[in-house]
Amino acid sequence: MTSSPAAERTRLARNFGLSDRVFAGPRARRLANDIEAGLELVERGLADDLRVADPIADAASRYLYEAGGKRVRPVLTLLTAQLGEGNIEPVIDVAKALEMTHLGSLYHDDVMDEADRRRGVPAAHAVWGNNVAILTGDILFSRASQLMARYGERAIRLQADTFERLVLGQLHETVGPTPDDDPIDFYIQVLADKTGSLIAAATQSGVIFSNAPSEYEEPMRVYGEKVGVAFQLLDDVIDLSANPDDTGKVPGTDLRAGVPTMPSLLLAAQTDADSRALAARIDDGVARIADGEDAGILDEPLADLREHAVTERTMVLARRWTQDAIDALAPLPDGAVRDALTRFATTLADRSS
Ligand code: IPE
Ligand code: IPE
Ligand code: MG
Ligand code: MG
Repeated sequence: MTSSPAAERTRLARNFGLSDRVFAGPRARRLANDIEAGLELVERGLADDLRVADPIADAASRYLYEAGGKRVRPVLTLLTAQLGEGNIEPVIDVAKALEMTHLGSLYHDDVMDEADRRRGVPAAHAVWGNNVAILTGDILFSRASQLMARYGERAIRLQADTFERLVLGQLHETVGPTPDDDPIDFYIQVLADKTGSLIAAATQSGVIFSNAPSEYEEPMRVYGEKVGVAFQLLDDVIDLSANPDDTGKVPGTDLRAGVPTMPSLLLAAQTDADSRALAARIDDGVARIADGEDAGILDEPLADLREHAVTERTMVLARRWTQDAIDALAPLPDGAVRDALTRFATTLADRSS
């Protein structure tokens, strides 16, 4: 990759796929170039920082990084850092650490969700088995902590608190609500914890580590958390309707493995006969797949769920969280960064990968 602006724009477009819409209009051009330059530093830095002396650990830890990904979290850190001193070293290091944390969580998540594909390639556990995939995730978390430790207690605490929330989100998704919990509220909290927490850390860190005015920190944290919930709600819709060429994942993975998603939870709350029948067909299919039948038996119920009103309701919900995220930007100065964050949120609401 050369460092010419045109080539850098290509990197952002390729990694992110949303760049033309996020960085639209003349005042966004310089901002886009700054983000491109920062992303280039993040990419090169990750390529170095993911090296491990042990050859198996080296191959496994670089595997999903090299497979691609949208780099949503580093882009958000770089974007909010432009409210301060921009692409300074602490910003780049923290952006790398948060992407590493995300990467590690993907290795673990694919074991938990029994997902076969990720970023267009076989999931790590499908290549090396569950133990190596889990331990590789742990290496990535260690590396992320090592990077954060360069910036003192505040950075370490941010990393640790974020990671605890992410893990608790995954845990609560796994064990499910108690009879006293409202299942939909419980699930929204799961999304805020497992995904919102890390995206909030990304947007908040851009402010902290670029020395931007501290009054922007809380609005950016709130924005990131709400965008994260919207992002994950869309991920649930994408799980139903994805074109695997776009997403690099197998459509219906969560549903087939019995992992709850917003459309399936909303369906479970419906009382009309058609919805009850569809929910029963899905439950039956999940049970039969768990007993060893082919995962394809859920293709038809999955297509029906995609067409059911609960999927549209999930998208409406995602748009509401998107609007709340945009409202959180009110204390920010008018300008290219605020424009781009607004566009980022609206673009997310109709993403397909
Ligand atoms: C996937 O995240 C996991 C979720 C939290 C939804 P991304 O959709 O950001 O995945 P990559 O990084 O682009 O592969
Ligand atoms: C992933 O959530 C969240 C984390 C890895 C913390 P999902 O399981 O819903 O995401 P995908 O669909 O596998 O990317
Ligand atoms: Mg998953
Ligand atoms: Mg999961």
